[in-house]
Amino acid sequence: MKLITLLLVVLFQHCSCQNFQDGLALDGQLIVVIEDNLSSTSEEGNTWEERSLVTVRSAKLGQVSISHTRPWNEKLSKSLQKLSKSGDFYKLRLHQQGSKEPNFVYTFADACQLYASGMREHINLMIDTTPSAGLLSQSLVGASLYSPEGRLCHSDVSRSIKGYNSTVSVRTPVPGTVPDTATYIQRIEMANKEKAENKDNRSFFAKYWIYIIPAVLLLMVSGGGQEGGR
Ligand SMILES: *[C@@H]1O[C@H](CO)[C@@H](O)[C@H](O)[C@H]1NC(C)=O
Ligand SMILES: *[C@@H]1O[C@H](CO)[C@@H](O)[C@H](O)[C@H]1NC(C)=O
Repeated sequence: MKLITLLLVVLFQHCSCQNFQDGLALDGQLIVVIEDNLSSTSEEGNTWEERSLVTVRSAKLGQVSISHTRPWNEKLSKSLQKLSKSGDFYKLRLHQQGSKEPNFVYTFADACQLYASGMREHINLMIDTTPSAGLLSQSLVGASLYSPEGRLCHSDVSRSIKGYNSTVSVRTPVPGTVPDTATYIQRIEMANKEKAENKDNRSFFAKYWIYIIPAVLLLMVSGGGQEGGR
């Protein structure tokens, strides 16, 4: 009976362990929707337009890919050029696909720099990874955008942009340091010990009278003996 129970326990643990690993691979995936605003005024209607999807398989391992759902076209080039000429920014709004109430993350880059580089962009996503209930959940917490050829920016330049030239990277926030309880306790003990030692601030005489008195007595006795001997 005992053996069967043990076998069942072992079997169950084995199964749940496998499920756990499958869950890690499936549930951890995160899809980030990228929208942009290429309009130069607030009166140009629905300004946020979906342009790309980023699939984050594992932020920890840097497994990420981007696909563009809105192909680049001449009209977009014109809009970006317009933004560039007016010294405006190219804006991005990102959120997790499938979230009911999306938490938008915003970022932007100088439109002139992007335009001059031919829409060459680096998108960096900050992904929080939290293992919860045995499953890994990844969530988008921040994003940044920059053009690596930004210094070549001239507002009067005219470029034909063939399409997005995107590089995506992911980062996970550095976890806070785990409290080092053992060292802390050691330090407290040391501090207490030092305190105890410092408390012994009696006068020199009060501390060492057991050595001083006999020495003085000895001197007196020997001195007295010499005088008596004369
Ligand atoms: C889009 O960008 C333009 C130009 O900067 C701005 O005027 C407008 O308000 C933006 N639209 C939204 C929805 O943020
Ligand atoms: C993206 O930019 C790099 C650097 O300028 C260039 O070498 C590469 O050919 C570009 N890729 C595309 C698809 O234009």
